[in-house]
Amino acid sequence: MSAPMLSIAALSVRFGGLVAVDDVTFDVAAGSTHGLIGPNGAGKTTMFNLISGLTPPTSGAIRLADREINDLPSWKRAALGLSRTFQNIRVFPEMTLAENVATGLHPSLVQGFPAILTRLGGFAASERRARDIAMEQLEFVGLAAKARQRAGDLPYGDQRRLEIARALANQPRLLMLDEPAAGMNPSEKLELLGLLERLKGRGLTMLVVEHDMKFVMRLCDRISVINFGRKIAEGAPAEVRANADVIEAYLGAKVARGLEKGA
Ligand SMILES: Nc1ncnc2c1ncn2[C@@H]1O[C@H](COP(=O)(O)OP(=O)(O)OP(=O)(O)O)[C@@H](O)[C@H]1O
Ligand SMILES: [Mg+2]
Repeated sequence: MSAPMLSIAALSVRFGGLVAVDDVTFDVAAGSTHGLIGPNGAGKTTMFNLISGLTPPTSGAIRLADREINDLPSWKRAALGLSRTFQNIRVFPEMTLAENVATGLHPSLVQGFPAILTRLGGFAASERRARDIAMEQLEFVGLAAKARQRAGDLPYGDQRRLEIARALANQPRLLMLDEPAAGMNPSEKLELLGLLERLKGRGLTMLVVEHDMKFVMRLCDRISVINFGRKIAEGAPAEVRANADVIEAYLGAKVARGLEKGA
């Protein structure tokens, strides 16, 4: 057995009186696609913020491959190969698609800058390399034809794929996607599924938060379920689907939403 790509051990975070993530432990196997599901407010995005370094944990440990990353700032975690997208899309609307993707380039790909600057023509060469890599990622997500357009003019589904292209420019070892299919129509979802399956085929490790159960069940090898910050189940998609606690957590949430609507 190879070591997990991501290891979460007894992780908790408290916001005032609320324990948003409560003593959660799980591993993401290298090369696997792992789902993280649970009702609204369960703590999924908070978990992503803990892993990517935007929120400091109250207790617990996070390991990326062979390294504990708890105390590293988020940019260092990114440099180690941790990439993510955001539930609320974060593209730079005034920049072109290519420029947006270039902001995600791994430091090693732009590190050459100062040395290159001392050589005539080197700057252009390095810029060209950055542009080539950005174009490669746009090509991969199917947005190459729009590379020079303003990101803010893109339809919603395209913005989600642009975020994935930017995350890929970091040459991640672990790609974390927070609701990648949200707001997409069925054909966009199918296209996204194909894209993520190709990444899976390349051996990329992924952690995916998604509310569309059909999408999650098709894509993931293993799924962890959280509810009110606590892990309530974990297993292969079929096991999770049949788990009584999971059904209750979702049914409970649906009933609660139904009551809100009826009120
Ligand atoms: N910075 C914060 N300060 C205080 N409370 C927070 C903070 N961030 C999240 N929370 C609370 O933590 C809980 C978990 O929120 P989180 O966004 O992680 O849920 P989620 O599982 O991603 O839900 P959704 O499916 O709706 O995106 C919620 O009750 C939320 O209000
Ligand atoms: Mg969320």
